[in-house]
Amino acid sequence: MGVRTSVGVPRESVAGERRVALVPGVVERLCAQGLEVRVEPGAGQAALIPDDAFTKAGAHLGDPWSADVVVKVNPPSAAEIGKLPRGSTLIGFLAPLTDPDLAPRLRAAGVAGFALESVPRISRAQSMDALSSQANVAGYRAVLLAASECTRFFPMLTTAAGTVKPASVLVLGVGVAGLQALATAKRLGARTTGYDVRPEVADQVRSVGAKWLDLGVSAVGEGGYARELTEDERAEQAQRLSAAISGFDVVITTALVPGRPAPRLVPAEAVRRMRPGSVIVDLAGAAGGNCELSEPDRTTVDHEVTIAAPLNLPATMPEHASELYARNVQALLELMLVDGRLAPDFTDEVLAAACITRSEPGEGHLSPS
Ligand code: NAI
Repeated sequence: MGVRTSVGVPRESVAGERRVALVPGVVERLCAQGLEVRVEPGAGQAALIPDDAFTKAGAHLGDPWSADVVVKVNPPSAAEIGKLPRGSTLIGFLAPLTDPDLAPRLRAAGVAGFALESVPRISRAQSMDALSSQANVAGYRAVLLAASECTRFFPMLTTAAGTVKPASVLVLGVGVAGLQALATAKRLGARTTGYDVRPEVADQVRSVGAKWLDLGVSAVGEGGYARELTEDERAEQAQRLSAAISGFDVVITTALVPGRPAPRLVPAEAVRRMRPGSVIVDLAGAAGGNCELSEPDRTTVDHEVTIAAPLNLPATMPEHASELYARNVQALLELMLVDGRLAPDFTDEVLAAACITRSEPGEGHLSPS
């Protein structure tokens, strides 16, 4: 047998990131398939995974950047791109829509890039859908954050001292994160309501025990995503939403349009009409925020309403978030392997879509045939 295909797992360098791209359980499976896994010392430390858990699973500690395939969570920095050998392959979140410069830089470095964001949302690729796995974590965590910031109980409480009404929670934007937020808030006993511009979401909202807020504005886009609203639609939606929002104790917003600024759904005036002690958790902070008053990465208080706009909630649950992410990476990597060697079939629609750059002819495994 020749030299084994190697997989490198670096320590994430972005501030506040606690996830790691592979976990020991997945390392064990990859090693069983004949791969060599190289983990940077301390790569799992922030996710509470010690180096020896990786070595027990069959990994070596060492330089991850010289591997045939490097797996990451966040897009690489310029310095990290400089460490990738020509002909190597990079798998991770590569922000293909929000950082279009990355693909040409990887191409110039002779690196093949596979972006997890670009994996198509089809049934066959569900196991590789890292946007969904991480959105589930964010949706869950957003509700816990809202519950801990809210000055009122989520569940109805009947006690000797009287009965407390359940909190009412509105989720704006019911994709993967929003649906998880509705389900989690319901489990905590809140009365839940969901709203989205894609009308087909109404049944999913009801299936998790929530009411559907019908504002009469619909914007179905391509590939199951929402499209941007027209000026008139936006004004109509804003006016109706603003009126509805003031009746809720908690508003969780997750509304996104791929590659575009996040829609402004919660104007300042709506926040000021909410009851003191209410909470807004805005998960769209990285795309500019759904609430006019959100300050990305900060929690602020305006008119006694707490507004949290955390930028990376999955990183606050690093063990499970890494575990799910690692399985997504494993599934994509396995699709690229033939007998333990990297041999991606670019006629496969999943790989064709995920690949944002291919290395130049003569530069290793991924030369176009
Ligand atoms: P996303 O993160 O792109 O957006 C979140 C939600 O915000 C979406 O539901 C979107 O319709 C909504 N939104 C956008 N603009 C809005 C506005 N102005 N007002 C209110 N809501 C607005 O969405 P996510 O979670 O990535 O899901 C995108 C699509 O992919 C959905 O159709 C989802 O069902 C589908 N999907 C399919 C999967 C599969 O078949 N394997 C797996 C996961 C998601």
